[in-house]
Amino acid sequence: MISQLKLISLHVMILAALFSGKLSAQENARIKIDIDRQIGTINENIYGNFVEHLGRCVYGGIYDPDSPLSDENGIRTDVLEAAKGLNIPLTRYPGGNFVSNYHWKDGVGPKQDRPPRMELAWERLETNQFGTNEFIDYAKQLGTEPYFAVNLGTGTIKEAQEWVEYCNVKEGPYYAELRKKHGYPEPHNIKYWSLGNEMDGFWQMGHLNAEDYSKKAREAAKLMRLTDPNIELIAAGASNFRPGSDPHEWNATVLAELRDVVDYIALHMYVGNHQDNYYNFVSSPLVLEERTQVVKGMIQREMEKANRGDRDPIYIAWDEYNIWYRWRQDETMSGERALEERYNLEDALVIAGFLNAFIRNADIVKMANMAQLVNVIAPIFAEKDAMFKQTIYYPLQLFANNMFGTALDAYVDCETYDTDEFFLGLAEQATQQSNVPYLDVSAAYQNGEVVIGVVNRHLDKAISTDIISQEGLFDGEFEVFEVNGSDIKAENDFDKTNVETEQKDTLKVKKSEQFTYAFPPHSFTLLKGKIVK
Ligand code: AHR
Repeated sequence: MISQLKLISLHVMILAALFSGKLSAQENARIKIDIDRQIGTINENIYGNFVEHLGRCVYGGIYDPDSPLSDENGIRTDVLEAAKGLNIPLTRYPGGNFVSNYHWKDGVGPKQDRPPRMELAWERLETNQFGTNEFIDYAKQLGTEPYFAVNLGTGTIKEAQEWVEYCNVKEGPYYAELRKKHGYPEPHNIKYWSLGNEMDGFWQMGHLNAEDYSKKAREAAKLMRLTDPNIELIAAGASNFRPGSDPHEWNATVLAELRDVVDYIALHMYVGNHQDNYYNFVSSPLVLEERTQVVKGMIQREMEKANRGDRDPIYIAWDEYNIWYRWRQDETMSGERALEERYNLEDALVIAGFLNAFIRNADIVKMANMAQLVNVIAPIFAEKDAMFKQTIYYPLQLFANNMFGTALDAYVDCETYDTDEFFLGLAEQATQQSNVPYLDVSAAYQNGEVVIGVVNRHLDKAISTDIISQEGLFDGEFEVFEVNGSDIKAENDFDKTNVETEQKDTLKVKKSEQFTYAFPPHSFTLLKGKIVK
């Protein structure tokens, strides 16, 4: 017989364990969805991409006249079809570091007259056989909006103005007429233009300090807007958080100097699993989120003083983000096969984490561009006679085809972990994350339909989760898509697809406030269904 006293002390122990969280493993996690708790409208441009003259992204990637899989214009049709699957609203071009010594006039007009140049950023020969008009034609085929970057490194503000004239002025002045002579009677009407690339970086050709960059960017913007008042301009924000440099100082100066002028500030982030520590690595999108919040505060401060007429406030464009660390050695950083990173399942989870973070910050992040589209740190990988989709293709495809409307502020209650100190990138400052939830969640609502994106970061545990609606009832069939694989290092290749999207059985929910779903270990799941009043 257990004595009364022993029973009481057992009770106390259970209560203590519950409070310390030790028993929480047996409880369901919770995700609360409230269609009234809205963050902001999701701008579809967060599903953008990037094509740079680097390695085999353009030549041997989207364009390869020598491939049997190319059409009469040299466009790789299989790559184009795969890119279409990503439903890319906006594509940045032509760089990247490349743009800081790119002179656009080299890449227009009759191909036989275009000069080959030394490409100094990534050490190639730039033949200039692919340029402005080829990219515009490609963008039309792909159904994406072009986003151009001007050269503020070795380029002049006059050259930037002339490019806008060539692309956007219908007729009359020299460069508009030149475009017509080149076979394009109608203007290209490029709306988005970035004022240089990573101008804070010592590696950038024509690198400037923040004050000098701001002056040059302001004058370039003036000439470009006088040429076409409808364009939107993106300032180069801080690209890297290097020990010894202060990226916040760069951003503060650029925002203060350009607060009346630009429409976006561009931020970049590349992460890597440098210490081969899964849990550190999959938490790295949270650092992007922290940086987003810091820059949002800086923008708000400047917007109080800004004179922008009826223009929107400045937004954030994460116009380069991805995983890039394996091909970071000297011999893989340049030349024909630069940056040909191969991706695995853990990389795909990090990409899903980035996309979740963009959704959770939909009020301020209005553009994002995965860097880059093909071969170079890319979701699509091609050789002359074949291509395959890398693991990171699948989460991006799911988001870009499903997650639209209003971003919701989902409440998440689940177990957490702390990371060690780790490095995001080789040159980056060390970071550490506490209380990282195993479930990383974003949600969107549109036309009575809710879409929930969930990364289960847990390596070996499915997390049974109650998904609860705070306003209205879940109803009908919920579609379930899952990106997963046998292990976190699983990769795809030409002849094997180990990681892809699997459509699971639908969940049937009958006018209910909640349903339960077990998110499998190391997976990304997208749930899609109706909420009725
Ligand atoms: O995307 C690869 C390179 O990364 C880009 O050229 C540059 O902007 C960044 O440093």
